[in-house]
Amino acid sequence: MLRLRFSCFVALALSCMVASSANAHVHAFKFGETPDGEMVKVYTMKSDNGAYIEILTLGATIRKIEVPDKDGNVADVVFGFDNVEDYLSDENQYFGAVVGRYGNRIADGKFTIDDEEYQLATNDPPNHLHGGGDRALSKVVWKAKRFESETERGVTMWYTSPDGEEGYPGELSARVTYTLNNDNELRIDFEATTDKATVLNLTNHAYFNLHGAGSPTINDHELMINADRYTPVDDTLITTGELAPVEGTPLDFRTFHTIGERVDEFGYAKGAGYDHNFVINRDDAQEGEVITAAVLRDPESGRQLTVKTDQPGVQFYGGNFLHGQIGKDGQVYKKRSGCCLETQVFPDSPNKQGKEGWPNAVLRPGETYRHVQQFGFGVTE
Ligand code: BGC
Repeated sequence: MLRLRFSCFVALALSCMVASSANAHVHAFKFGETPDGEMVKVYTMKSDNGAYIEILTLGATIRKIEVPDKDGNVADVVFGFDNVEDYLSDENQYFGAVVGRYGNRIADGKFTIDDEEYQLATNDPPNHLHGGGDRALSKVVWKAKRFESETERGVTMWYTSPDGEEGYPGELSARVTYTLNNDNELRIDFEATTDKATVLNLTNHAYFNLHGAGSPTINDHELMINADRYTPVDDTLITTGELAPVEGTPLDFRTFHTIGERVDEFGYAKGAGYDHNFVINRDDAQEGEVITAAVLRDPESGRQLTVKTDQPGVQFYGGNFLHGQIGKDGQVYKKRSGCCLETQVFPDSPNKQGKEGWPNAVLRPGETYRHVQQFGFGVTE
């Protein structure tokens, strides 16, 4: 019922908007309210080439991405829910959200900066995952402002996280800008500053299925990952500190392979399947240069997603812990029916500082954290 009401509302509101301002590409509507009565808005935007996107102020979350296939048929290719209650429930495994302050895992939820030890929530026992509990960045309401020019449009969202929120040191001012251009590229720019040394790793956690969200599997999708090495993990999915070659393993995606081809060839005590951080080949790239990390394509529809970034790593998570959640319009999100490509610094980097080949994960006062994660949508030739 709620779902129907929301869709009708958006449709009606959109038609009014189209009538009143034919050229505007970005609109904002009320999506719902949190239990504390905070309003959650949805920003809608479209490109001149058939892409339509919705972003929520709750968790700066991507709720919908509709893009054409090789015959021009449009499908929604990301997971999401129809109401705030579902987004705040345990069923939500970070669908489309910005995760942080530290995306991915920190061993035992502990880290030390300048001889001071900090303890975070161990919400993925025994480890910390994706920023912790109710005040993780994926669970709070961000402020927002839309913008548009001739060729691009989008929304900037910002949130100030108080010193000590979820156990992290420093007041953090975080900003995320979503920009959609007419090549159907959605660029996400993350920026943050702090007033005390802290750890940080922001990333978007969208789950993709290029047939259309709710389709039963992604095992038939083909994937290329631009990485010669990956970061092996222990059986609680904490990185061991090694940077190991992908060669000769089911993690060798240097040329296209279907996800399903080798997915059952290996496993960990906790969840078999793909859930690994890859070390992006950046030897030929400049510092800060945005390069291709991965390409995902669906041979049937021809839809193709190119993920680009300036970060050193990308987590390929194959949806092993999905368990049939019910999402938008009754879509069912079964195990391995969606995958994430989370650009990032390496998991548990705060406990590997100074190790050769490991990135810096500490942000200090006076510095600005920057990260570009770009999702480009097209079709295969
Ligand atoms: C992690 C998975 C985790 C999932 C939660 C991914 O980013 O790599 O291990 O279960 O997020 O939805």
